[in-house]
Amino acid sequence: MCGIIGYIGKKNIVDVLISGLKKLEYRGYDSSGIAILKENKIIRHRSVGKISQMEASLPSEFKNLSSKDDCIGIAHTRWATHGKPSEENAHPHIDCTKSFVLVHNGIIENYFELKTKLKKHKFLSDTDTEVIVHLIEENYNGSLIEAVKKTLKLLEGSYAFVLLSKYDPKKLFFARKDSPLIIGLAEDEKLIASDVTAMLEYTNKFIFLENEDFGEVSAKDIKIFNLKRDSIQQRPITLVNWSAQMAEKSGFKHFMLKEIYEQPQVLRENITSRVFGEDIIFDDELKFKKDLLKKIEKILIIGCGTSYHAGLVCKYFFENILKIPTEVDIASEFRYRNPILKNNTLAIFISQSGETADTLASLRLIKRYKLPTLGICNVVGSSLYREADSTIYIRCGPEIGVASTKAFTGQLISLYLFGLYLAKIKKTTSHQRYIELLNSLYKTPTYIENILSDTSFLKHLAELFYSKKDFLYLARGINYPVALEGALKLKEISYIHAEGYPAGEMKHGPIALIDKDMPVVIIATKGALLQKVFSNLEEVKSRDAKVIALTNYGVESKSIDYKIILPETDELISPILNVVPLQLLAYYIADILGCDIDQPRNLAKSVTVE
Ligand code: M6R
Repeated sequence: MCGIIGYIGKKNIVDVLISGLKKLEYRGYDSSGIAILKENKIIRHRSVGKISQMEASLPSEFKNLSSKDDCIGIAHTRWATHGKPSEENAHPHIDCTKSFVLVHNGIIENYFELKTKLKKHKFLSDTDTEVIVHLIEENYNGSLIEAVKKTLKLLEGSYAFVLLSKYDPKKLFFARKDSPLIIGLAEDEKLIASDVTAMLEYTNKFIFLENEDFGEVSAKDIKIFNLKRDSIQQRPITLVNWSAQMAEKSGFKHFMLKEIYEQPQVLRENITSRVFGEDIIFDDELKFKKDLLKKIEKILIIGCGTSYHAGLVCKYFFENILKIPTEVDIASEFRYRNPILKNNTLAIFISQSGETADTLASLRLIKRYKLPTLGICNVVGSSLYREADSTIYIRCGPEIGVASTKAFTGQLISLYLFGLYLAKIKKTTSHQRYIELLNSLYKTPTYIENILSDTSFLKHLAELFYSKKDFLYLARGINYPVALEGALKLKEISYIHAEGYPAGEMKHGPIALIDKDMPVVIIATKGALLQKVFSNLEEVKSRDAKVIALTNYGVESKSIDYKIILPETDELISPILNVVPLQLLAYYIADILGCDIDQPRNLAKSVTVE
């Protein structure tokens, strides 16, 4: 949830840390701070609010730094868990002797117990993090790496931390467990951060630290140890072919808008790199033997938020083309419900970040049952990638806006291709239907371009409805999860209350909400259930609601007040198109309201705590 960056090298330390923090701001943005070594003294600055506020209030001692020494420092952007957003609770945290300073992402679950044992120490914040830096102080006996190791053995919970000390001024010390931490490698300089995007400006070469790794990094050298092993650990260097520009807005007002517009290109890249003629090829990313896949009798899909919605869409798709039961679960529920798991079940975990705590906990639970696990993930080298048996990357490039957009359609396209691949192996769909679906998938990028080419009507709708307090989103069948996703987009970025509902279920409760002030967005694109949707539409209209319908040419109904006309496609493929206008509608409404679209209140892009 929080973002960490550390740097050691010759560049201006403040510039590197602040620009890195800005790239990490999507991970948390209630307060931030920076600490550097200056003439072997730790200097620190922290502030509530955005990173720009912290930057603007930097004291003069952070300026005019001499360039003769290696520059070393750490910085942090926070999403509060323990202790409200305040300057005292902002990181970096410092020990009593002002010799050690530390930034942390994660939750120390036994911090209270540890704190009560550290009676001699003066705690200045309400955070769980502060306990780590006091423990390091307590355990320091001339060797920092030993102090780190001793401290780690006392900690319960999750952590990624970077430590700086005046006792070893040319090194940063680090550790990770269940929270991401990555080392960026460049000549005579090193970076360490929660996410590669903060380091892309300087390097494409990264070491993804593993669970319970800890160690030290200097400008030229890295030493990695692991709590479970004795020797120095060798970790592979991964090349990430994302560019620094991919993490920029490139002229768009917000990352979210840019990412919505990137969807055709992302989907095209996914299709053209995996579909060759009539064959779908998942090179070495799919490590399962075909024999294992042939035997799959059930699919279990797990995710959170938008990724969960993508899973729900796939339930309809998979059951249709694979004819096997597909169960979808919210990760935070699944991990505690003692699931009944049977052999020949494939468990799929969907996560853009690959770091969502509940999704990873569910993966670890399934692994205890020795079922095959497949990750669907965007972030290269993430925990999901490292822990699942196989991972299909959705190849979307960095998604910075907190509201997930291109990752949703990227997840759908990757899962659809996987479903078709499996259908071919299991021979559960006729060749003709397989080709029809593949052809429809091929056309989606062009259709989305079409939708994006003229958004004036969606802007007009936003003008008409931005002042409403509640929205209802309705749909049936495979588009029901798209209604959920449309409502989620609106509520998370505009703070307008919105509910997604299966249209047929509306009369069992939500219909009571409907009156002339309630806009109802209904997905009425062509498909087997269109007539049923029409009946629901009548029920809505007869309660005077304003009806906005996503539909196709030729669909007529007097009860629709505003028609958003979409290209016609196969019903099974339609969610990939239908979600796009809903993303845009939410975006334009939030923009009129002047909301902080890329960093909505209380949210964080990557939910690495439970
Ligand atoms: O990184 P993940 O896909 O695991 O994240 C899951 C959710 O936190 C995420 O989809 C969230 O719901 C988005 N903000 C929705 O736009």
